[in-house]
Amino acid sequence: PNDPNAEAAPRTRTATPDLAQRPRRNRKAEWSRRLVRENHVTASDLIWPLFLIEGERHREPIGAMPGVERLSVDEAVGEAERAASLGVPAIALFPYTDPMLRDARGSEAQNPENLVCRALRAIKRAVPEIGLMSDVALDPYTSHGHDGLLDGAEVINDATVDVLVRQALLHAQAGADMVAPSDMMDGRVGAIRKALDAAGRTDVQIVAYAAKYASAFYGPFRDAIGTNAVLVGDKRTYQMDPSNTDEALLEAGLDLAEGADMLIVKPGMPYLDVLWRVKEAFQRPTIAYQVSGEYAMIEAAAQNGWIDHDRAMMESLTAFKRAGADAVITYYAATVAEKLKKG
Ligand code: PBG
Repeated sequence: PNDPNAEAAPRTRTATPDLAQRPRRNRKAEWSRRLVRENHVTASDLIWPLFLIEGERHREPIGAMPGVERLSVDEAVGEAERAASLGVPAIALFPYTDPMLRDARGSEAQNPENLVCRALRAIKRAVPEIGLMSDVALDPYTSHGHDGLLDGAEVINDATVDVLVRQALLHAQAGADMVAPSDMMDGRVGAIRKALDAAGRTDVQIVAYAAKYASAFYGPFRDAIGTNAVLVGDKRTYQMDPSNTDEALLEAGLDLAEGADMLIVKPGMPYLDVLWRVKEAFQRPTIAYQVSGEYAMIEAAAQNGWIDHDRAMMESLTAFKRAGADAVITYYAATVAEKLKKG
């Protein structure tokens, strides 16, 4: 009824141009827009990242991510139950490691009783129907904040891969359905696949951060897992240069050849072109990661009244689908699933 196009404009003397196509006809009413809609966001498209912290019945706000909290394991179990009941297929776990437990080699990553392993076991037991994804990288555990082992100032590749393989095996033993190497070392997908297979875990999926860029948009995440304060230097010798796209295809192709089951492009919105090319080139399950900085930008602008929160949130997720994403890792997963459920 309040559709501005519903009422015919008054006829004027202007000659009607002879237009065979008037694209606006299909947009004239909500029913028609729904009918011709090409892309849809559903709860099934979403993966929800959760931050973990020690404690019981404990939640901590994250400064740069309003509405996102670090959760003790029992609270994370509760949120996993909620996600499952909303139809969200999977969650991804990220630990805030006690600074006392961080060292140069990230030893805590190899502790089968570490926070992530305990959370994986607890959630697997309580919510067996939800997919569990774990991040394979050393940054939550190292005193220098890098994803791998250092030799001087250099992040060394092959020794790091050995450690990542052990971390991936531990996660699989603890209940991870998907391991997601986010470190960007060369050859780690193949090494992890081989080790999982040798351990009889041919069922565990590898979700490879195939095209992961050295991005400024990870700032709030590093705050959430406590690496901002400690990170020495930057990650540009292993994460990709934001100027490149051909290189993303090289990375994705290698990860698939090494055994990756799904590919991640990260960050999300500033890299829709990369997402599109990766999906076009390989036609494999491709996931966009709407990272912490993207979330923070929407939240900050909305808090200032500069953009409409819910519309910006939904539009950003629709854009990922349009650009070829099969799924999106987003801090909005539960919020969106709830909104979709309400209709
Ligand atoms: C680290 C990791 C990062 C993110 C996911 N895994 C940060 C980084 O590479 O420094 C970022 C996610 C986000 O910003 O939301 N292995």
